[in-house]
Amino acid sequence: MPNAPEMRNCQIGAGAEIEPNVMLGYQYPGWQKPLVIGHRPRIHSGTTIYADTVIGHRFTCGHNVLIRAECEIGDRVVILHGSTLEGRIKIGKGVKIMAHVYIPSRTVIGSMVFIGPGVNILNATLPMREAGIAGAIIGNHVVIGGGATIGPGVTIGDNVFVGAGAVVMQDIPANSLAYGVPAKFRPLPEKFGNRNDSKQIFEGLDLWDNRPADGSWQQEDYPGKLF
Ligand SMILES: CC(C)(COP(=O)(O)OP(=O)(O)OC[C@H]1O[C@@H](n2cnc3c(N)ncnc32)[C@H](O)[C@@H]1OP(=O)(O)O)[C@@H](O)C(=O)NCCC(=O)NCCS
Repeated sequence: MPNAPEMRNCQIGAGAEIEPNVMLGYQYPGWQKPLVIGHRPRIHSGTTIYADTVIGHRFTCGHNVLIRAECEIGDRVVILHGSTLEGRIKIGKGVKIMAHVYIPSRTVIGSMVFIGPGVNILNATLPMREAGIAGAIIGNHVVIGGGATIGPGVTIGDNVFVGAGAVVMQDIPANSLAYGVPAKFRPLPEKFGNRNDSKQIFEGLDLWDNRPADGSWQQEDYPGKLF
């Protein structure tokens, strides 16, 4: 028998769809405030979200996602299965994080960002040798291709497209295409455009999504562009 979701330490908006075996408001030592989630979240089984995190409206979360404490996550964010957010992370609106992504603490992500499957973001240059921690800063309308690695303290400007498998260890200016190991960048070719399409956030979670196809789910909060 699946366990009912554990939601005692969570303030959650109307219309929530929470599957069994979900833990919301996990009480780690020293926690202070309940987890806050806006209206109409959909959270699939196996996910744990800590206390002291705040998540906006229309959150969509796959299976076995871990989100630790002190994260600030905007509206219409999608995080797919097996991803880990280590805590003390800021994420804007309309961000889509695919499966098996690792995001360490102190990472800052703008709005309308796509993070491909298996992306690793790092926050320490000399782990176990030097104490410093530096989170990456990722701008708005960025795409990070599958399997890419984003180095500690790297700043990625708005409307940057990072190719699959890139290892980005230096700052990338806005409106650039970056790929390779180590990643090199050049101005973003015209065919890439200058923003991500918010319709792709309004659409379903994945192939097995069961939201109504009539568009009602999509339009209620943001009739136009999300960001
Ligand atoms: C980087 C990328 C955007 C380039 O696309 P593009 O402009 O159409 O590039 P092309 O396919 O014309 O390739 C141009 C050159 O770059 C190379 N290249 C393309 N992608 C590369 C990558 N990720 N890493 C290294 N080299 C790459 C190509 O081999 C080619 O080299 P050549 O000129 O020596 O033949 C694309 O290949 C990519 O990685 N997209 C991300 C896909 C992804 O991760 N999706 C996640 C959702 S599932």
